[in-house]
Amino acid sequence: MNKVIGTDVSRKDGRAKVTGTATYAAEHQIPGLVHGYLVTASIANGQIKSIDTSAAEKASGVIDVFTHKNLPKVFMPTNDFMTSKIYEARLPLSDDKIHYAGQIIGLVVADTFERARDAAHLVKVEYATQKPVVEAAKATFKEAPPQMGEEPKFEKGNFATGVAGATTKLTATYKTSTEMHAPMEPHAIIAHWQDANSLTVYEPSQWVFATQRTYAELFGLPSERVRVVTPFLGGAFGCKAFPWPHGILCAAAARKLQRPLRVVLSRRQMTANSGHRSETEQTVRLGATADGILTAIAHEAKSCTSPVEVFAEPCTGVTPVMYTAPNLQLTQELAVLNIGTPTFMRGPGENPGMWALESAMDELAWMLKIDPVELRLKNEAKEHQRKGQPFSAKHFADCLRVGAEQFGWKDRPKQPRSLTRDGQLVGWGMAGSTFPGLRGKASVKVRLLPDGTAHVLTAGNDMGTGAYTVVAATAADALGLPVKKIQVEMGDSLLPDGGLAGGSMMTASLVPAVMVACEQVLKTANAKTAQEAFATLGKSGRAAFEATASSAPGDEAKKWAFQSWGTHFCEVSVDEEIGRLRITRWVSVMDIGRVINSKTAASQVRGGVIMGIGQALMEECHLDPNVGYPVVYDLATYHLASHADIPRIEVFFVGEPDLNFNPAGVRGVGEIGITGVSAAIANAVYHATGKRIRDLPITPDKLL
Ligand code: MOS
Repeated sequence: MNKVIGTDVSRKDGRAKVTGTATYAAEHQIPGLVHGYLVTASIANGQIKSIDTSAAEKASGVIDVFTHKNLPKVFMPTNDFMTSKIYEARLPLSDDKIHYAGQIIGLVVADTFERARDAAHLVKVEYATQKPVVEAAKATFKEAPPQMGEEPKFEKGNFATGVAGATTKLTATYKTSTEMHAPMEPHAIIAHWQDANSLTVYEPSQWVFATQRTYAELFGLPSERVRVVTPFLGGAFGCKAFPWPHGILCAAAARKLQRPLRVVLSRRQMTANSGHRSETEQTVRLGATADGILTAIAHEAKSCTSPVEVFAEPCTGVTPVMYTAPNLQLTQELAVLNIGTPTFMRGPGENPGMWALESAMDELAWMLKIDPVELRLKNEAKEHQRKGQPFSAKHFADCLRVGAEQFGWKDRPKQPRSLTRDGQLVGWGMAGSTFPGLRGKASVKVRLLPDGTAHVLTAGNDMGTGAYTVVAATAADALGLPVKKIQVEMGDSLLPDGGLAGGSMMTASLVPAVMVACEQVLKTANAKTAQEAFATLGKSGRAAFEATASSAPGDEAKKWAFQSWGTHFCEVSVDEEIGRLRITRWVSVMDIGRVINSKTAASQVRGGVIMGIGQALMEECHLDPNVGYPVVYDLATYHLASHADIPRIEVFFVGEPDLNFNPAGVRGVGEIGITGVSAAIANAVYHATGKRIRDLPITPDKLL
């Protein structure tokens, strides 16, 4: 047994994606489809004085125009995350207020996309304008409310006393910029009402059941009246789990018109209407003894939200997990800006948090003249200091050792500016990486068919991560079949609830469920192997053997803290004359429990590293401080890392199955790869140049 798990399995969905037969939300062909185009606000703060839609209504092909004056009834959902959730707490078009530039203020529906777009530009709006606040430096920060049940403040021991007794002290402030998700597939939806009370939604969704419950509540329907279809997502990093205003508006308009309606956001519209990662400012204070033992850690984080949602980027979550100190203090503050609503984005909190913490640890290592790998080994936390629980499985020390070995860290010159190559400065840097081990309940159906294939069905999603492949590999092993005999269907609310593709939990949720469902179907067939089951099936005259089973977390989280670990080691070269920074070498080592598919798992780490390189070097979304409009608004103006920016990324896995976590011993890998990347780069830049950059991104002007 166990021939497939742990090996390199190529993507089940790869061929469909590269040949264009994978159907994304906006591509579903629905007879009679009509097209919506959003009208958005051209001011960032104020009120609509008047809105004149008469010219738009008369334009050719226009079917209807929706504004705050005529939006059909939509109900406020529970919005507690588990029952239902909308990303922005204000319902679209619910009044005449403008909270941020680009806010949706109307929807024009026409027979073609071009006619809808053309007519949208004929809508005339007069505003009462107030000066927006879009700069964090001018905003008022207050203590953040609890986020996902976690209080903004935490204190263990007494920081002031702890730091007073330290021989070496560091205080440093680190910043990150507003970042956009920029998935390849834009946000899009087709809302198709079969009748006034039956809705099918084609929308990229990381969590079809939550999306189903939310649309049901929005329109006052029982859940089973709503079907959500998302077989494929063209990338999602936390921005595609719940309805955004455009989706709600599209479904409301389609209900009124009783015609299938499609709304696709332009890249510019996505800037304001589909979430971003807030800019952050974090101050880290460290106190240590002369031999590098931490006595005190304080981590203060600030982030910004929009006027219509409370979302605090939870940066301090990583601190009690990474390093131990008798005195530990965490605070989290939040300010409201006139900008679109921020949300979860790959490693929400963990990513900026590790930027600050892992930069600070590097600075401390230089102050103490201790190797940064050594400093981390000396101080690694043995328990989760906030939860007061031991880690179920922790191989962070192995990640440090293996990374150092694979990279050749011991040959590192001990002074900044001491390595050069081809007339450029060269530097080496490293940082730790971490993300919680999360898992939810998942259900899976397995069907054995007379043609010798097994079908595995679940509403869980593959958002580009490799979930189709992981499900197939797991079923192949459990049934004793080759991977090519396994067919997987995912992402439809008619299938058993597979949970959320987020929080890096899809694999950890689904794999145990696939295992029990496979066991169950063999039991149903009264067979030991699938081959035996197929033989019985042939004789029995039955159409199929079928079983549905679930797997869910028990109370193991009362005993253990579950966490994944990793390290990044990198080399950079800097041309100081033109401020050019290049990443020339990369090694990542991850402890993610048992690895189901080494190929897709390594790809997830590489994707995280690439996204982290973008954050470190180029990603920033500026807003005009006077009018509050983003001056970065598409894939030409928002700079993302592309092929030429990326070196070969070597990925290694260490650790062992985390069997306290689930019977498969598997934790997730979607987000951890991005954490620590920007710190590893800034640490390497310091080694290369002697310049400490504390403000992301590290653009050429900062290196001149
Ligand atoms: Mo992720 S930010 O949980 O999709």
